[in-house]
Amino acid sequence: MLRTGIRLLALALCVSAGGDFDWTKNEKTSFYYGTFPTGFSWGVGSSAYQTEGAWNTDGKGMSIWDVFAHKKGKISSNETGDSSCEGYYKFKDDINLMKEMKLSHYRFSVSWPRILPSGLRSEHVNEKGIRYYSDLIDLLLDSKITPVVTLYHWDLPQVLQEKYGGWQNASMVGYFNEFANLCFERFGNRVKLWITFNNPWSISVEGYETGEHAPGLRTRGSGAYKAAHHIIKAHAKVWHTYDMKWRSKQKGLIGISLTADWGEPVDVSNQRDVEAAERYIHFYLGWFATPLFHGDYPAVMKEYIGRKSGQQGLGASRLPVFSPQEKSYVRGTVDFLGLGHYTTRYVTQKNYPSGFGDSYFADRDLAELVDPKWPDPGSEWLYSVPWGFRRLLNFVKTQYGNPMIYVTENGVSEKMLCTDLCDDWRMQYFREYINELLKAVRDGVNVKGYTAWSLLDGFEWDEGFSERFGLYFVDFRNKNKPRFPKASVQFYKRIISSNGFPSQREVESWKRKAVETCSSSNQLLAADPLIGHMEMVTEIVVPTVCTLCILLSAVFFMFLLRRRL
Ligand code: NOJ
Repeated sequence: MLRTGIRLLALALCVSAGGDFDWTKNEKTSFYYGTFPTGFSWGVGSSAYQTEGAWNTDGKGMSIWDVFAHKKGKISSNETGDSSCEGYYKFKDDINLMKEMKLSHYRFSVSWPRILPSGLRSEHVNEKGIRYYSDLIDLLLDSKITPVVTLYHWDLPQVLQEKYGGWQNASMVGYFNEFANLCFERFGNRVKLWITFNNPWSISVEGYETGEHAPGLRTRGSGAYKAAHHIIKAHAKVWHTYDMKWRSKQKGLIGISLTADWGEPVDVSNQRDVEAAERYIHFYLGWFATPLFHGDYPAVMKEYIGRKSGQQGLGASRLPVFSPQEKSYVRGTVDFLGLGHYTTRYVTQKNYPSGFGDSYFADRDLAELVDPKWPDPGSEWLYSVPWGFRRLLNFVKTQYGNPMIYVTENGVSEKMLCTDLCDDWRMQYFREYINELLKAVRDGVNVKGYTAWSLLDGFEWDEGFSERFGLYFVDFRNKNKPRFPKASVQFYKRIISSNGFPSQREVESWKRKAVETCSSSNQLLAADPLIGHMEMVTEIVVPTVCTLCILLSAVFFMFLLRRRL
């Protein structure tokens, strides 16, 4: 009796720790056969620096990623995105790939320095850059594919970093707004879904705390919070500008894309674990989502960072404070929430003593664990844990008032020495994650679309080209960067054409059929070095031989002339 009472109390505490979210209800149910609501949007994603190449072409300015990647020792094998997939030149081919997949939307990003080389609208607008995005948008619309445009996928103009310190500086809020306005002015008649920032967690933590990403700063324990503060304000400013100036004419929606892992308590009946898991999610997703939906940072962030700052002898919290006016300014500035999700962690409480030093990670007082049984086919951090996706989606529903959601990123990479286009693990990943998404939709989560990450293998930031997320394999050794479909293209196509998973019999045949087609692609790819070789012959050997012939004939001609004189 007493034990039951204690359990009930523990359960009640668990529930109250996460608002309406029920931590105890983790149904790892079997596969669900069914379809998505009519009109559900299926897409793929990409970003400018990861795929465009053409880093110094047609008047483009430098971005922080151009500069960072050119520094030795920052990127695996010192690779750069200079040419990447050459998407700048091949977008027509890529749209054909999308048409074949019968996609409803394509998510891509605008490179700020491609259209504003110095970052500032008042200085110079690069019309060639504008034309590139304009043509891309037109062709997508002609192909009945909705463009979903991200304004900032990490490539800040280098000038703004050098002059002002990038996102450490409040002036970025105004400059970003000018850039966004230019995009609304030039593309807004055709683009109806805008994403201001992609994954601000990464921009802040990896760009300003750990320095793994551009601009590579290590301002531990404070820089990330400052960058995030300015990003939140910049998002809100753009939302307000759109609302006042463009919304009535253009009728678009402004969202933000937040990426978050799910955090599951190691022991769901242990209150401290539940609180640690909740902190994990609030320091990840809530850091941005709570101000934008509710007007301020999560209480738990204010409490932990404030207390630790005090213990470190600082006069004020390292977490910036929103004034009352700012709170009402940032609150309610998301028309839809873009959600990127890849993986899950188990979380437990762990104290970091104050002498440990300032750091975002120490501020959270928790430890992350993984189950060694979870599959991890690619990137070191990416374990396949499909049920975490449904949990995260339900958490968003309960915490933020069931907002409209577009899944803006979800996918898996491979890290392999030998290339194999029969990517069984990716088909498995999509099958299970999309199925958990379907379950979440049935739970009542308001999801309108899903974006597989990514269309092509691309430049995977500090990992260079060593981690491949693409549905299409890109042969980076070949100057033409040819694309080859992996089996998952066929698999994803089936999900799209059925709008989900119609029946067991049908779904079970998909993988088999997809594998049948990929072996021929494997052969094509195997023959590719030959293609590369032939190109080398036409592009290098033939011109060299011709030049030599001309030179020799000239010498011979002079020799003849001399003999005659
Ligand atoms: C999130 C980033 O937005 C994207 O650029 C990256 O490729 C994926 N994560 C995979 O790491």
